[in-house]
Amino acid sequence: MLAIYPGSFDPVTVGHLDIIIRAAKIFDRVIVAVLQNPSKIASFTSEERVMLLRRVTAGMENVEIESFHSLLADFAIEKGAQVIVKGLRAMSDFEYEFQMALANRHLNPDVETVFLTSGAENMFISSSMVKQIAGFGGNIDAFVPMCISEDIKIRLNRGVSSK
Ligand code: COA
Repeated sequence: MLAIYPGSFDPVTVGHLDIIIRAAKIFDRVIVAVLQNPSKIASFTSEERVMLLRRVTAGMENVEIESFHSLLADFAIEKGAQVIVKGLRAMSDFEYEFQMALANRHLNPDVETVFLTSGAENMFISSSMVKQIAGFGGNIDAFVPMCISEDIKIRLNRGVSSK
């Protein structure tokens, strides 16, 4: 079974990686789909986010990273995916995720949204939080995978913003 795990991943965090690892154990193939949430301003380009994800998932044979610029429901049809995976951190995520799941089911009734609960230790982590801490020179080592931590610090301390 093929699952898609969509998100902005601006940048990928340990919370995202936890969901990817667990999804890869459940499904035959997982496509991590990087896209731009139109209501957010990205700090990393789409190419940078894809590269960071490829580095943190290196060696995971059933995980692929792609970017897309369409409706998630259409991307799922294009790929032949049966499942959309989303991570749920807290009740505050629920209402938005429920709405998205219903909209996606309306657009593509052949795809089910499956929620994986976030690990308790990752409940409070978000990409914005990582960016804010790194932007002020704080330590983000606990929040992003070790192999990309230094590059994220350097990149965000440069203060370069990309669309
Ligand atoms: N651990 C840690 N952080 C997590 C997490 C986890 N398990 N899961 C989510 N987060 C964080 C993300 O980093 C993000 O943080 P930020 O707000 O600081 O950037 C936040 O929680 C929200 O994540 P998510 O709900 O995945 O939103 P997103 O903006 O990353 O992605 C899309 C949303 C891209 C999946 C959604 O907008 C989409 O599908 N767009 C395509 C258009 C479409 O088809 N829309 C549906 C029809 S209305």
